[in-house]
Amino acid sequence: MKYLSLIFFMSLLPQYAGKSLRRDGSHPRTFEDIKNEIAGYSDTAKAIIDLAVHGKAQNRSYERLAVFADTVGPRLSGSKNLDAAIQYMFSALQKDGLENVHLEPVKVPHWERGEEFAVMLEPRNHSIAILGLGSSVATPPEGITAEVMVVASFDELHRRAQEAKGKIVVYNQPFVTYGETVRYRSQGAVEAAKVGAVASLIRSIASFSIDSPHTGWQNYQSGVPRIPTACISVEDAEMMSRMALRGTKIVVYLKMGARTYPDSPSFNTVAEIVGNKYPEQIVLVSGHLDSWDVGQGAMDDGGGAFISWEALSLIKDLGLRPKRTLRMVLWTGEEQGGVGAEQYYQLHKENISNFDIVMESDEGTFKPSGLAFTGNAKARDIIKEIMALLLPINVTDVFDNADGTDINYWMRDGVPGASLRDDLSKYFWFHHSQGDTMTVQDPNQMNLCAAVWTVVSYVIADMEEMLPRDSKGALNK
Ligand SMILES: *[C@@H]1O[C@H](CO)[C@@H](O)[C@H](O)[C@H]1NC(C)=O
Ligand SMILES: *[C@@H]1O[C@H](CO)[C@@H](O)[C@H](O)[C@H]1NC(C)=O
Ligand SMILES: *[C@@H]1O[C@H](CO)[C@@H](O)[C@H](O)[C@H]1NC(C)=O
Ligand SMILES: *[C@@H]1O[C@H](CO)[C@@H](O)[C@H](O)[C@H]1NC(C)=O
Ligand SMILES: [Zn+2]
Repeated sequence: MKYLSLIFFMSLLPQYAGKSLRRDGSHPRTFEDIKNEIAGYSDTAKAIIDLAVHGKAQNRSYERLAVFADTVGPRLSGSKNLDAAIQYMFSALQKDGLENVHLEPVKVPHWERGEEFAVMLEPRNHSIAILGLGSSVATPPEGITAEVMVVASFDELHRRAQEAKGKIVVYNQPFVTYGETVRYRSQGAVEAAKVGAVASLIRSIASFSIDSPHTGWQNYQSGVPRIPTACISVEDAEMMSRMALRGTKIVVYLKMGARTYPDSPSFNTVAEIVGNKYPEQIVLVSGHLDSWDVGQGAMDDGGGAFISWEALSLIKDLGLRPKRTLRMVLWTGEEQGGVGAEQYYQLHKENISNFDIVMESDEGTFKPSGLAFTGNAKARDIIKEIMALLLPINVTDVFDNADGTDINYWMRDGVPGASLRDDLSKYFWFHHSQGDTMTVQDPNQMNLCAAVWTVVSYVIADMEEMLPRDSKGALNK
């Protein structure tokens, strides 16, 4: 309904009347022209799909990722593993014959969890699996032994603030959505410290659990005491909640050896296929190379990084060279809040008018369902036409609001953005946990994701004109 009325409205806009002449004397292109141009890519799209899904490149992104993930393992910012991952990719991309393979230096946070453990001492001895949250301080060397106060929400914590002094606050908030529930992880320690707690243990932000904790970044606030904070499994959070509701006293011993070091040198990893007509104009495809220090970071975000590499490989293998430069960036320091991407943005934003679209895949590479897009209505209609080229694999949907920590900097300033949409039903089972391994990844699903990623990025990079955008006025002449 919305879509139809939009088309109707747009057909009334003066630039669609085809009367005015451009400076070079040509008529402005109508949407019909653009539709035809895109339809002209249908054989190329089929060739990409064939190569990725059925042909010689079948399973390649999965196989490459498996070797990488098994060899390097998890890659926390500031770690030797992340350095190794970046060196690995630098030489793999060169060996693949890609262009302008290089590393761009940035600084990333360096936090290490050290040794950590927790035991329930009352009402019975029970070992509690924990993962310290990124940026958490350590406990004193002798650890912390304290009574537990269980709450189900920040509201409950504030209502019962009087009881919190000297306690370990355990949050047993229900999982609603990641976006909504993750604030318990990021702000749980601060809220607990404000009411006098000595530590906080947070129910993992997970939609399903087999008793494993899920880590992630958290934020302290200036002026609020920094207390140690870790996540615990859904199972342990629920058990302590049941005990507390029965009036049972719970005592926990917590020991954490976490440390924050000075920021560490790292790199965003870049490779390109240079455009043959507008080489200064950029279509950016990306994922992040860093991960948490548990599991293998195969899902978050090995999959996104490796389908981005695959996009360049497929285009190269087909002997294609788009008009614009197709640039792959593998971000560093994403898990600490898009740290590598922000420095990239600061450095490159002087060329913002040359960035046609920024794409990031950082929400799984499971069965793809379409593309999420941020941009104006005219650009969205163009994207819908491009997605129609993916009819052979039935992944044609265009959703609202592209999502990606690393591309947000650009989208906020008006650059069109896209992210891969896929079946997220199991994503938060594994996210930031020991369970994020190659076992979660599926070669067929990655083939399909790579096909979507490649068709979209190639066609946008090769079209006559950049995608229209509203802000900054630079491109809507
Ligand atoms: C790709 O992976 C699928 C699923 O594991 C397998 O059936 C197929 O044989 C693989 N193809 C190649 C070329 O290895
Ligand atoms: C519980 O653990 C503590 C400390 O590890 C130990 O001293 C105590 O004996 C244990 N109690 C039981 C009943 O096992
Ligand atoms: C901006 O674009 C120009 C032209 O392509 C290029 O020479 C320059 O290096 C770019 N600047 C940055 C910071 O990337
Ligand atoms: C195509 O995908 C839609 C969901 O996007 C699904 O409802 C439909 O069954 C699929 N069709 C085929 C032929 O797979
Ligand atoms: Zn991620």
